[in-house]
Amino acid sequence: MYGERPARADHVLRLDGVGVEYRTPAGSVNAVSDVTLDVPARGITVLAGPSGSGKSTLLRVLSLVERPTTGGVELRGRGTARLSAKARRALRRTEIALVFQNPADNLVGHLTAGDNLRAAAQASGRAAAVRELLAQLGLPDTADWRVSALSGGQQQRLAFGCALARGASVVLADEPTSQLDSVSADLVLETVADLAERGVPVVVASHDPRLIALADTRFDLRNGVLAA
Ligand SMILES: Nc1ncnc2c1ncn2[C@@H]1O[C@H](COP(=O)(O)OP(=O)(O)OP(=O)(O)O)[C@@H](O)[C@H]1O
Ligand SMILES: [Mg+2]
Repeated sequence: MYGERPARADHVLRLDGVGVEYRTPAGSVNAVSDVTLDVPARGITVLAGPSGSGKSTLLRVLSLVERPTTGGVELRGRGTARLSAKARRALRRTEIALVFQNPADNLVGHLTAGDNLRAAAQASGRAAAVRELLAQLGLPDTADWRVSALSGGQQQRLAFGCALARGASVVLADEPTSQLDSVSADLVLETVADLAERGVPVVVASHDPRLIALADTRFDLRNGVLAA
């Protein structure tokens, strides 16, 4: 079984010559071209670059949401090109956690914080230590709160907590602080740093300078190409 393989020490994800081409009525767009990179198995990796440079596209490829037009994606040393849609979905459920920009997209709004953590853990056959996780996230005593009663920043922290509860091999986040005020964003940054310290590699697409400052590894994109 895939999930039982030990993680390779050096990298969790590898892109080899990845290109993504979109066809539009105005012609084809190369959102990403010939990107080769390794995401280390430890620490915070940031994909930086201006709007339209291909950060979200690359994150979708890294998280196996989207197949690249060219090139390959390896997860923990294994190619993914030949996997069926079902096998890719299974990996996304157990190995890969995604955190989106909009807090409401990451959680089940009508469930409590505790139930969100439990559901995340169950998806990969685990049990969640809810109280301990919430305390780690700086959200003590919120187990019985509905998600909709939490602030946007608290919801984002809970979303990263769900990734931890699932035991994901890697967490990928697309501009997780961009819809937050700076105090809430700081708390989310603490959570990201905490996750990385616990040994979970985190990949973040962002142009937030404070997030970029946390990067152990940084890749800069310009017009879909990695900058030297
Ligand atoms: N589904 C799509 N169809 C056509 N073009 C697309 C599609 N998705 C992205 N693109 C184009 O690909 C390029 C890269 O977009 P992407 O969203 O990856 O950039 P980004 O770096 O995440 O930008 P932002 O900082 O604004 O979120 C852009 O030119 C965009 O218009
Ligand atoms: Mg984007």
